[in-house]
Amino acid sequence: MKRTLQGLMVLAVLSGGMFVHAGETVVLGIDDLTSGIPGTGPLTLEQVQAWLADPANHEELDVRLPLGLSIGARDIQGIRENPLTRAKIELGRQLYFDTRLSADNTVSCASCHHPQEGFARHTRFGIGIDGQTGGRNSPVSYNRILSGAQFWDGRAASLEEQAVGPIANPIEMGSTHEQAVDTLKQIPAYVAQFEAVFPKSGVTIDNVGKAIASFERVIVTGPTPFDYVDALRPFESLEEEDLEDLKEDDPDAWKRLQELRAGAAANPMSESARRGMDLFFSREIGCSNCHVGANLTDEKYHNLGIGMDSPDPDLGRYAVTGNDRDKGAFKTPTIRNVALSAPYMHDGSLQTLEEVVEHYAKGGTKNPWLSDKMTPLKLNSQQKLDLVEFMRSVTGSFPKIASGRLPE
Ligand code: HEC
Ligand code: HEC
Repeated sequence: MKRTLQGLMVLAVLSGGMFVHAGETVVLGIDDLTSGIPGTGPLTLEQVQAWLADPANHEELDVRLPLGLSIGARDIQGIRENPLTRAKIELGRQLYFDTRLSADNTVSCASCHHPQEGFARHTRFGIGIDGQTGGRNSPVSYNRILSGAQFWDGRAASLEEQAVGPIANPIEMGSTHEQAVDTLKQIPAYVAQFEAVFPKSGVTIDNVGKAIASFERVIVTGPTPFDYVDALRPFESLEEEDLEDLKEDDPDAWKRLQELRAGAAANPMSESARRGMDLFFSREIGCSNCHVGANLTDEKYHNLGIGMDSPDPDLGRYAVTGNDRDKGAFKTPTIRNVALSAPYMHDGSLQTLEEVVEHYAKGGTKNPWLSDKMTPLKLNSQQKLDLVEFMRSVTGSFPKIASGRLPE
């Protein structure tokens, strides 16, 4: 508890968060919500019961976002409908890593969204049971708390809806919802948790979705070198005298400035990355026409021409809306931590960030539905490098996540 409070104090300053006391306040990405029930080895029923007996684990959490993502606090999705508690998050964590939800006990969510591979997978396509693959690259499963519709084409309206899809997808986990629920009902430590977290309904597929979605919502990534630079920007125009005044008149703002400066010094951004940042947000290059806001995505759908030169292209968003103009459009992915999750694009066709920049430089791949925001860019080789450096500099910390500690 003490640790939690300390983390909170530091981050309250960094995120500029105000305290409203309604339930325990936690800063996502920093607080210890995903490190598992204390102990080692498989979880025993006794350990689970002791955990469930602590009322604090059932209290609704009041969440804050860390510096960077915090500017998106108003866009937080889904927690009113599906409130976060420590017990629900922990149950979701176990389900996320549990291969028993798949038909042959070999595949879990983490198989395609692995913490050590940027919460995606370094293969072109996700690989499901019996080595089967689909035609799309695994997107990242972090910072979902700021994201509404899920999948490259947005066909799932919420994380809850998304989370139960892979279990019954024949080429992913290959099971059925009935079979998954039956399996969980035979594991006493799961039954105890479902009954405590969802007292009215117990083990159901909807509750599996709610628990996994809750776990995903707290996988939030911490401040990056870019975020410190960005947060310091308003202070840049201040003269020495203004700063003196600030120190005297507004001790809180002064303290926040010192925290930000310390953060920036500890997480420096290279000159090249700074130049890349200016290009990224410039009108001429315009990456921020689409990669914008706290999570560096507009959560909208655009056609960049990826895969559109193949004879039978994946038409993306069109399959959901039936609107002609959505042909070949896919959801803008986040740029946060993008250096960790190669390969890129919905079809995993680009191997490196350098290749991605080349795709934009040539103005995308021509097709009838190409976004009007895609035009050839005048970029010299240094500027291309700078853009890549900028993208590398939006890499932040991840919360500690236990991948083991599953019910025996
Ligand atoms: C076999 C690999 C595989 C498995 C297993 C898998 N996924 Fe995925 N996941 C994918 C692929 C591929 C996509 C993109 C599919 C699409 O857009 O049509 C995806 C999409 C997602 C998204 C949407 C992200 C976004 O930006 O829209 C989330 C969230 C997600 N998966 C979470 C999960 C969870 C939770 C589980 C376990 C219940 C899981 N996945 C199991 C491969 C997998
Ligand atoms: C018109 C909107 C738009 C603009 C402008 C744009 N992007 Fe994108 N970006 C997208 C979409 C949509 C995708 C996914 C496209 C797909 O898979 O078909 C994407 C994918 C990416 C990816 C791959 C991420 C991943 O996880 O696979 C990177 C990196 C990227 N963009 C960087 C940039 C850079 C750098 C610029 C500026 C030079 C830029 N984007 C301009 C919309 C845009």
